[in-house]
Amino acid sequence: MKEVIIGGVGKYAPSKIITNDQLSEIIETSDEWIYSRTGIKQRHVSIGEDTSYMASEAAKMALENANIRSIDIDLIVVATCTPDMYTPSTACIVQSIIGANNSVAFDISAACSGFIYGLDVAKSLMKSNGYNNALVIGAENLSKSVDWEDRSTCVLFGDGAGAVVLSKSDNVGLISSFCKSEGEKYKCITIEGNDVDSPFVENKVIKSSKLKMNGNEVFKFATSTIVNSINKVLNENNLNLDDIDYIIPHQANVRIIDYAAKKLKVSVDKFYMNIEEYGNTSAASIPIALSEMWKKKLIKKGNKIILVGFGAGLTYGATLINWAI
Ligand code: ACO
Repeated sequence: MKEVIIGGVGKYAPSKIITNDQLSEIIETSDEWIYSRTGIKQRHVSIGEDTSYMASEAAKMALENANIRSIDIDLIVVATCTPDMYTPSTACIVQSIIGANNSVAFDISAACSGFIYGLDVAKSLMKSNGYNNALVIGAENLSKSVDWEDRSTCVLFGDGAGAVVLSKSDNVGLISSFCKSEGEKYKCITIEGNDVDSPFVENKVIKSSKLKMNGNEVFKFATSTIVNSINKVLNENNLNLDDIDYIIPHQANVRIIDYAAKKLKVSVDKFYMNIEEYGNTSAASIPIALSEMWKKKLIKKGNKIILVGFGAGLTYGATLINWAI
């Protein structure tokens, strides 16, 4: 068995929902502004669940779905930009919670592209190291990292997690993928962290632990990369959009997705969207969407799906999938 398929999917979203109208009670904003600029109506917000908890709940659902025991997992990759702690990795905490005692576990930091990066890394390791089963999880607790006084960012994000079980198979599941970074634009989205300070530092470097974003720059980057990434995956596999059943983009902004559909001359219905309910859940958005589509029986065996992500780093990437279950 040389190939890798997605054998199960799962998701978790906190039960607490905050609508745009509720947000307008704590900051100067409106449902009209948020919805017309982004397509967001509400977001799920943690009432104390941290990233590892949400990741573990999504992972348990994916394991159940795949009918695989946690002790049969060889690799856990958690994509997150809002880990529980700097160290240990959130993946190690997930390993402990779900009892996946036979696995190697680590995190990937590629923000909203993290799940795409995670799939690529996990597939490569499964092929090179002989791992049979892996969990790839995108999980975020962004509500602890946004600045609730900055209306230009706090209205955009939500919390949640999505997970897939990857398994070795004779069938092709993850057909092809690519990941890219444009590090020279790293200042566009930051969550800085600790000050640089010690008895040996002459000029203390003050850092912010809150998310900061140059929305306009990211918007320009996102509109071009989403189109280029989809075209790259299609060209590399000699396919065109008629061969693709669904595109699942990172859920950042409806306007970015509308732009991509127009540019690609394809119906926007080909793009799955749930940003209205969840907001931008960064690395979790694509696996949450996958899990939701699976539950709604929208995806069927043999479907060809493109997953496409973009985000802080700046990072981007896409994966072409043959749905094999
Ligand atoms: N409510 C009301 N008014 C607001 C709000 C708000 N929540 N936020 C900003 N405004 C105001 C601004 O102050 C500004 O007012 P001014 O003209 O008087 O100065 C006005 O609205 C317009 O602000 P813009 O920033 O120009 O609004 P824009 O139309 O560009 O939309 C947005 C902003 C939604 C952030 C958009 O730029 C965007 O979607 N960017 C992409 C974000 C993205 O894709 N991120 C993905 C990666 S995230 C990650 O990796 C973790």
